[in-house]
Amino acid sequence: MAQIQIKPVGYSLGAQITGVDISKPLTEQQILDIKDAWTRHQVLVFPDQDLNPESLLAFSRNFGELDNFSSQPFNRHPDYDEIFMLSNKPINGKVPPGSTGGQNWHTDLSYTIRPAKATLVYCIEKPSVGGDTMFANMYDAYETLSPVLQQFLDGLEAVHDVNLITAKRPPEIVAEFARLNPPVIHPAIRTHPESERKALYVNPRTRRFVGMTEAESATLIKYLSEHAVSPRFVYRHRWSVRDLVMWDNRCLTHLAVGDFDRSEIRHMLRTSTMGDYYGRYEDEATGAEAIKTKGNKDLAKALSLLHD
Ligand code: OGA
Ligand code: MN
Repeated sequence: MAQIQIKPVGYSLGAQITGVDISKPLTEQQILDIKDAWTRHQVLVFPDQDLNPESLLAFSRNFGELDNFSSQPFNRHPDYDEIFMLSNKPINGKVPPGSTGGQNWHTDLSYTIRPAKATLVYCIEKPSVGGDTMFANMYDAYETLSPVLQQFLDGLEAVHDVNLITAKRPPEIVAEFARLNPPVIHPAIRTHPESERKALYVNPRTRRFVGMTEAESATLIKYLSEHAVSPRFVYRHRWSVRDLVMWDNRCLTHLAVGDFDRSEIRHMLRTSTMGDYYGRYEDEATGAEAIKTKGNKDLAKALSLLHD
């Protein structure tokens, strides 16, 4: 079996992977090589792949247990709970509510106690121009801060709030989204389990730092959010149909630029793998209620974590 080829597409992060047909079962060596490239480059682009929902799910499962999107069930594919519709193509006459998501810098599912590890997106249709996705390297963001600020942030935790998502959605969906996802607390800096490097975990969906007021937090969150997406830390992906892009939510933030003609179709399928339990609810009782109604698969584990 030929080795995969890896070509960096951004200086800070991003690489293109060729020499592998990801619609077919992979060898253990291929999976190891892809994981290794992913740890090094954070965003992998597999161009010209021929995937359907089943083969997208099978490829995604190589990287972990899949999220069934219980935190946002209204974005699910009609036939597959583990596929999120990143699409403005009407289903039964309605544009899916996920079509304006991701337009402020974020990392997937940081508003849950188990934020996503990988996110994989397969492009089926794209607008004639625009609709790119941008990625920013949170290792670089952390490493370029002054040692004094690094030290201050090392000991901080931050509240992530689903209400800071800017997507345009019907009010009943906004309300349900917030009910399912009450505010959670995460460390401001997280250490990546594989690379063992520290990455900034603060972005515009961060409400405040624990122990600080919102006013005190606001200036620092704004500074960090801007610093973190300095052009030199960013890779901008211009989609082609049949691209599969896979990114690591533990060490980058990303953004849907959203600049395309809405009369054109942007139709992509997304999966996410479950990350580690990482955060905790700001208010445990509200969190426990939310988990019950989410129908989270491993409810028991999640609940026991609330009481550690
Ligand atoms: C996502 C996301 C970006 C885009 O799927 O999590 O942020 O460009 N997508 O659609
Ligand atoms: Mn996202």
